[in-house]
Amino acid sequence: MSESDTVLAPRFRGKVALVTGAGSGIGAATASRLAAEGAHVLLADVDEASLGLAVEAAGSAARATGFGGGAEGLPLDVADEAGWARVARHLEDGPGRLDLLHSNAAIAVIQPADRLTVADWHRQLDVNLTATFLAVRALAGLLTRTGGSIVITSSVHAMRGLPGRPAYAATKGALLSLGRQLAADYGPDVRVNTVVPGPIMSPAWADVSEPDRERSIRATTLARFGRPSEVAAAVAFFGSDDASYVTGASLVVDGGWSVTADSA
Ligand SMILES: NC(=O)c1ccc[n+]([C@@H]2O[C@H](COP(=O)([O-])OP(=O)(O)OC[C@H]3O[C@@H](n4cnc5c(N)ncnc54)[C@H](O)[C@@H]3O)[C@@H](O)[C@H]2O)c1
Repeated sequence: MSESDTVLAPRFRGKVALVTGAGSGIGAATASRLAAEGAHVLLADVDEASLGLAVEAAGSAARATGFGGGAEGLPLDVADEAGWARVARHLEDGPGRLDLLHSNAAIAVIQPADRLTVADWHRQLDVNLTATFLAVRALAGLLTRTGGSIVITSSVHAMRGLPGRPAYAATKGALLSLGRQLAADYGPDVRVNTVVPGPIMSPAWADVSEPDRERSIRATTLARFGRPSEVAAAVAFFGSDDASYVTGASLVVDGGWSVTADSA
């Protein structure tokens, strides 16, 4: 099935969503998907240039379906506690609600532990893991009041080791536990779920060599990279009423990567 065959419904009409790392890849695709389904989407990213393009794309996705969605850019370093206080004020003073938080921004510094600097270790923990804690700390009140939901982006690296990713893998594993813990803490008002992507062709793959790309494709049972929109579809499911009895769950979106011996 191609993207153009997807039939969209206004599942998020009148709702407000916030997506981090929305300037690119999975976050940008999720913002467009939610806007197309009627959400007013706040796209947050530290890279203001890519954020502008993603806001335009989400805005035109919203116009294409006409379900009342919209898009707004929010420059934000997700590791910055003061930035989250600003986001909370913006939401309180503006729409006064938050239906879906997609905590998705991440960075990866590829070095084995003995070559990874302490600063790079801490920065990955801050951006990939602590940011979700900061977001929930700032927005739990709003989410609880609205009866909203949280979707966290983990990774198949939470389950399988690959060379040179000690901090990245540690943060992605911790996000699986954090998602379950948040589900326990914030039910019954807020549902919390985690998407676990495998190889998804996004700008994050720009510096990966062709042989390494081919090895990743061979490790999938679907024999291809995933599209960011295929992860966005899972995020939209978790955030929608279609998942009204789903919380503390994780959904692997990896084309079968994690079930093959080749990925080990
Ligand atoms: N692409 C894959 O194969 C893959 C696989 C597994 C998991 N993931 C996860 O999916 C998520 C999105 O990855 P992607 O492939 O779309 O990557 P990407 O590099 O295309 O997008 C990541 C975005 O996060 C933003 N970002 C980085 N640091 C930030 C910060 N401090 N504050 C705010 N924004 C920041 C970047 O500017 C970028 O726009 C990440 O959590 C990643 O770990 C991706």
